[in-house]
Amino acid sequence: MKQRMDWTKIMLFSAAGIVAAILGASLSLLIFGASPQPAARGEGQALIGGAFDLVDVDGAARNEEMLLGETSLVYFGFTYCPDFCPTELANLAAVKRRLQSTGDDVQIIFITVDPERDTKELLKDYVAYFHEDIVGLTGSLDQVTAAAQAFRVYFEKVDDPDYPGEYTMNHTTLVYAMGPDGRYVAHFGAATPPETIVEELTKARAGG
Ligand code: NI
Repeated sequence: MKQRMDWTKIMLFSAAGIVAAILGASLSLLIFGASPQPAARGEGQALIGGAFDLVDVDGAARNEEMLLGETSLVYFGFTYCPDFCPTELANLAAVKRRLQSTGDDVQIIFITVDPERDTKELLKDYVAYFHEDIVGLTGSLDQVTAAAQAFRVYFEKVDDPDYPGEYTMNHTTLVYAMGPDGRYVAHFGAATPPETIVEELTKARAGG
């Protein structure tokens, strides 16, 4: 009798779970279905992206208008990063080469979260190592912080466990895809294979 009760409960919970899953799916459909409407910046659109004021490796001022007219992949990191950033930039460079090989392209933007050490010169050499057309951006700490906040990117200066007296940066390792209208399209977790990113970008373009 007790066992039967428990089964009933489990069944009820499962049913509730399925209903919740269906509701969740409908809700996300609703949200995603509603998102493509043209809206002014910051109004009812995905909360990723927004205004930023930075400089590129040649010292030219760059802002969010650089996103207009082409698809972009935006990634925040720093040149001293021992692991995630080199891997990610290599992946993003591979995405760009793949797209270029089919007559397509994507703008890769690398924004440093360590403007203190990442000079324009250092950043220039660093991004060029992965691909000659990766855009490296930096700025004052305030400008970089504002840009990171616009993309909901977290970063923090912490003691480097490997080098006493030195620091390293903890930071979000997501890659943000922005459409030619400058708006958020998708994001990719660290080390997403280049072919997956290419596939998703191609799908997103086909879907409009
Ligand atoms: Ni990194």
